[in-house]
Formats: sequence, C-alpha cells, structure tokens
Amino acid sequence: MCGIIGYIGGRRACEVIVKGLKRLEYRGYDSAGVVTGDGEGLHIRKGAGRIDPLVSELGLLNMPGNRGIGHTRWATHGVPNEINAHPHTDCSGKIALVHNGIIENYLELREELRKKGHTFKSDTDTEVIAHLIEEELKSSRNFEDAMRRALLRLKGSFALGIVYAGEPDRLYFVRNESPLVLGLGTGENFAASDVPAFLEYTRKAVFLDDGEYAVLTRESYTVKKLKTGEKVEKPVQEIDWTLDMAEKSGYPHFMLKEIYEQPRAIKDAIHGNSDLIPAVAEEIAKYSKVFFVAMGTSYHAALVGKYLFQRLAGKIALVEEASEFRYEAENILDGDSLVIAITQSGETADTLAAMKLAKRKGAKVMAIVNVVGSMATRVADITLYTHAGPEIGVAATKTYTTQLTVLTMLAMELARKLGRMREEELKTLEDEFMNVPQLVESVLSHAGGLEELAESLKDQRDFFYIGRGINVPTALEGALKLKEISYIHAEGLSAGELKHGPLALLEEGVPVVAITPSGRLFDKMVSNIEESKARGAMVVALSDSDELRETADVLVEMPPVNEALTPIVYVVPLQILAYHLAVLRGNDPDKPRNLAKSVTVE
Ligand code: F6R
Repeated sequence: MCGIIGYIGGRRACEVIVKGLKRLEYRGYDSAGVVTGDGEGLHIRKGAGRIDPLVSELGLLNMPGNRGIGHTRWATHGVPNEINAHPHTDCSGKIALVHNGIIENYLELREELRKKGHTFKSDTDTEVIAHLIEEELKSSRNFEDAMRRALLRLKGSFALGIVYAGEPDRLYFVRNESPLVLGLGTGENFAASDVPAFLEYTRKAVFLDDGEYAVLTRESYTVKKLKTGEKVEKPVQEIDWTLDMAEKSGYPHFMLKEIYEQPRAIKDAIHGNSDLIPAVAEEIAKYSKVFFVAMGTSYHAALVGKYLFQRLAGKIALVEEASEFRYEAENILDGDSLVIAITQSGETADTLAAMKLAKRKGAKVMAIVNVVGSMATRVADITLYTHAGPEIGVAATKTYTTQLTVLTMLAMELARKLGRMREEELKTLEDEFMNVPQLVESVLSHAGGLEELAESLKDQRDFFYIGRGINVPTALEGALKLKEISYIHAEGLSAGELKHGPLALLEEGVPVVAITPSGRLFDKMVSNIEESKARGAMVVALSDSDELRETADVLVEMPPVNEALTPIVYVVPLQILAYHLAVLRGNDPDKPRNLAKSVTVE
C-alpha cells in the first residue's frame, strides 16, 4: 500500500531515499515525504503528488544528513495532502516516523493522548504512534524501550521506519503484518518495503518477521522481538534479481517491458520448478479437498488452475476469492484440506488471512508466490516461486502467465500421478508446453496491429470479453486489465451467460472481444459471436481459425495451441490491447489511479 525506504551510512541519505522512493512508487503515489538527520536534528520535507515533481518542488535532493527515511503513500486515513503525508512527528518534533498499514485502535489512543496534552496535526492513524512513543519516553529507560512499549499497544498492521533526533547514529524499523526487508551493505545499511528499493547498493537481504524490529547503524544491524526485546538471529539471503530487472531498459513503461519479458519469465518459471513439481503434485494428490484462494489477477489464475486440475487430472478443486474465503470457510476446512494460495506479492492481506485460517483449521497450505521471502512464503507449508522477477507495473502481466505456467506443470504431473491421461497424450502436451515461450514470443512479434486496433476503439465506453471453459478466466482477466489501466468499463463473462442478461447491453458498435481458440468449444463460441453481431456488436475475435475471418469484424490471429495452454498464450494480446488503450487515453499504465500493487490492508 505505501512504500518505505531507510538509509544510514556514508552517502547523502536524501539521494538514496529519492531513488528508492521512485522504485517503490508502484506501492502508492498520492503523496511522499522524507526525513533526514544530521548533527543539527531532523529535517522533514513532504507534499502531495508524485515523487518526480516533489523532488524539485520540495528540494528533496538538497537535504543534509547521512541517515534518513522516505515514504510514498497510498491514502487510507485522511486525504492525500501535505499534512497527511508522512513522516509524522510527535509534539517535540524529535521523533519522526513513516508507516505502511493501518492502526485499528488509533481513535481511542488519540483520545487518550489528547487528554494528556498532545496536539495532533493530521487526520492520519499514523501520527498517534509518534505521540505514543513520546508519551512512553517520559517513563522509559531509553528510546528503544519507549518505542517497544508504545508499539505493543497498537492493534493492526504496520511496517514502520522511525528516527529519533536524540540518537544520531541509528534508525529503527518494525514489522507487523506489512512487509519490511533490511539490505546489508559495507559501512551502510538499508531497509525498505521491497528489495528493488536498495538493489542498486546491495543484494544481501534480511527479511523481518511479524513482531520483530531492527536497529540499524552504519556498521551493524540487530533484530529483536517486539514483545520481549530479546535478540533474534536472522538468515542473510542473497537476492538473485538484477538491477536491470527493476529498470525500464528503454521501454516507455514497466508494463510494456514486463509484457515483453514473458517468454523469458515463463522459461524461468519452468526451469525453476521442474525439479520440485513431482513431490508437490504427490502431496496435492493426497488431499481430497483442494481449495484455491487468491485476489484479482491471481484469482483469475486460480480459476484456470481449477479448470486444469479438473480437466487434466480429474481432481476436484474449488476456487474462492480470499476476501470471502477468510470469513466463510471455517466449517469446511480440516486436516484433509489443501489450500493453494496464489499471490504475486505474497503480501495481500486477504490472501494471508485465508491462509492463516486454513492453518488454524489444520489444513495444509501451499503458496504460489513471486516475491522471495514475502509473508505468504512464511505462512505456507510449501512454496513454489513463479520466478517472474520484480514486477513494477501495477497491472499484473508476467506474474500472471508465470502463475499459469506453474499451475499447468502441477496439473500435468497430477494427471500422471492420478493416471488420468494416457502417457502418450501427456507427453504430447508436455512437449507443446515446453514450446509455450516460443508461442508467446511469436504472439509478441505479431502484436503491431493491436495498437491500430486500440486507436479505433479508444473512445468506446464499454467492452465485453467473452470466453468458454478454461478461457472464461481469460475473458475476466482481459476485462480487468482494461478497467484498471484504461478506466473504460469492461465486463468479462462466460459466453454462455451472455443471453441470460448481459445481451441487453449490446448495441451498435459495442466491442465484444471473443476468445475463440479452435477445438471443443469453438462452435459454441461462434454461436455467441453471431448472437452478439445480430445485436450490432463489433466483434474482435482472437483465434487460430480462419473461419472467423468473415464472421468477426476484426480477427487477431493466434498460433494453434493445445486447449490446456490457451490461457497463457491468449492473454498476451489482451494485455497489449489494454496497454495501448491506456496510453492512447493519456493514462500512465504503470500507476493507475486509486490502485497500488500490494494490497496489504483489508
Ligand atoms: C491486477 C492486479 C491485482 C492483483 C491482486 C492480488 O492487475 O495486479 O488484481 O492481482 O491485488 O495481488 P497478489 O497477487 O499480490 O496477491
């Protein structure tokens, strides 16, 4: 939701922080602020808007000091303005902090502190923390003690960066249900919400767990338990992401770069998982109840997963949005249940809550995750990584196709274990699967016409995406991509559902995007296309069949591909179409309004 970056060392802190904030902007971009510290005390600059203009407006690169903390915000409490931007301070101005998360009991704490004479400047839940520490400091041995006592009174989720003017040689970082990772350098240390923020300086990372805090100095880091203050030994992890992966590398937007990275990402997902899949499939086969839980695009991947498990392996699986599952699944989970959580970030609050519920009920929990060391990987009993590399664009693209890749591998292996497909048939499918990166590459190299198509559609107000079977989720995903970055209303639905209501919305010229691979369901799709055309719709069909050349208004030619693999290949033109529509309408596809990449609050 929000992004945090902290630095202590020999460099000018403001420079490291501004760079880090730019890399974290995908987490929130409605306001930002920086605090730095030198011998003279704390210096704070903050304002509403995106980082780039704020750097010059506020002179963020002219701040003194070799330690500091920055924040980029996605508002929850209080409108995005200068006053509500982080850092927030106590009455004395000696304590400054930034926060990612939500403090649920801030109203009662604020009331209590007001009665004790504290004056509040902002509408945020965060400011209460600074005053609470100030209050505890009156009766504590030292700052660390006061901070610990104050934080133990908070309810909710928080990752915090805290600086105290009275201790010029250190910074504090705290984690409770919001991400925070330390970066270890030589003579300098970092902390951030996500690794790309400090990847330029170090690849050595220490992931904090919930209820832990870190004391950073130039030369050292110490991790302790919030409850007891006792030290915790943490493993240092070597991150294998490169800086190039976190940069645009000549593309106008991260989203486009990430779309074009898909052949490489899919290959990495295959190679990174091939040794692990047999044992994991063996494990899945043991459970009679399999549930997929996820949100947004990951939920669409889960829907594909269900189709794959059922069609290829005859394994029944249910799919539910984690936000529903977490409140509804209490009575159906037990030791015979396997919950497969799909989450790019590994930090989505609802997905984590669903996983924790499953664990409480004795279920086995598996996670399919992109971000190494993220919270989901700690909660899960089994983790498979998607190996997509950092995804900076807010709209998920390469993480979706790599989730599908992992799910396809699992389903094929499950089919083998459960004896649901003939070995010969399975071998043919596996061979075709290995060719998917090339198929995606060929779709990308023929994508030129999509920009032209987008030009002709850019003033439309509504879109419909239809598909059948395993491509119902493709229709949902196509519609979601369009909505979130172009701000055009779009609905994705199963083509069979069309005449049960939505057909009433079709009129002259409304675009209907039909995912129509040849095969079992082709004729059914053609009937739905005809129905749409009869109501004046403008049909854009994605197909490998020439038959549609006459029927559809526009045919996006696709390579022939096994039905089970169509979701990976067919989503690619939909991503590109949404991208061009967003750009043509003057939107920044990397930072859609009102959205943030990790939804770490409920
Ligand atoms: C859409 C998108 C979101 C995420 C959703 C879940 O492009 O990115 O819908 O898919 O917020 O996020 P993760 O996968 O991190 O749990």
